[in-house]
Amino acid sequence: MAEERFARLPAHLAVIMDGNGRWAKKRLLPRTAGHKVGVDTFAEVVGACSDLGIPYLTVYAFSTENWKRDASEVQELLRLMGQGIKRFLPDMHRKNIRLSLLGELERFPEKERAELLACERELSENTGMLLSVCLSYGGRQELVRAFNELLAEGAKAPVTAEDVEKHLYTAGLPDPDLVIRTSGEYRISNFLLWQSAYAEYYFTDVCWPDFKPKELYKALHAYENRSRRFGGA
Ligand code: FPP
Repeated sequence: MAEERFARLPAHLAVIMDGNGRWAKKRLLPRTAGHKVGVDTFAEVVGACSDLGIPYLTVYAFSTENWKRDASEVQELLRLMGQGIKRFLPDMHRKNIRLSLLGELERFPEKERAELLACERELSENTGMLLSVCLSYGGRQELVRAFNELLAEGAKAPVTAEDVEKHLYTAGLPDPDLVIRTSGEYRISNFLLWQSAYAEYYFTDVCWPDFKPKELYKALHAYENRSRRFGGA
């Protein structure tokens, strides 16, 4: 169990894991070296969140825009992520973690997709933290998809916010309470656009490969002191 104590924790923590490339560049390493260490950091942060008892963790692992990157970087990133999740599977089982893959999985190569879905299935009976990994995910695309599904099922106007929510990848999940973004960028970058309407944000200059549990605790302590009014007085 984690030793760190918090007065309150987010029920749903979301993370934009950014800065792998810059971390590697600073060390004169190829960008993929940053992704490799980023996968290790991912495993540590997932473990720490589960130990703290955070019920929902959602991470932005690959955006719809990331397909525009050099094909060799994309291929290596997908390989590292698939391999990382497989490697971390026994640990996730021990920690009773469930896995949910959100995004346009159909765009993934068959082999990687099948492997990732097998991991999701393998953890499906667990009852602990729900880890959602956003893969080929974009917030706008998610909304357009939801509207098209509503049209296809013949939804009658006016549709409600609840109708839309039922068609999001995150259907059934609470909205994120806290969104963390690493690497000194102050953008949402198409991440959980609808769901983050009232989320608190935490930005840090630390690049993702260096975002170890100590950095996570700093973000969670900052969240402890936020006053949330959800638009009220
Ligand atoms: C952004 O850094 C990071 C990514 C595009 C990849 C994020 C994925 C991981 C950290 C691995 C997650 C692991 C699993 C198993 C799901 P960047 O490459 O955009 O960095 P830069 O902005 O410095 O160029």
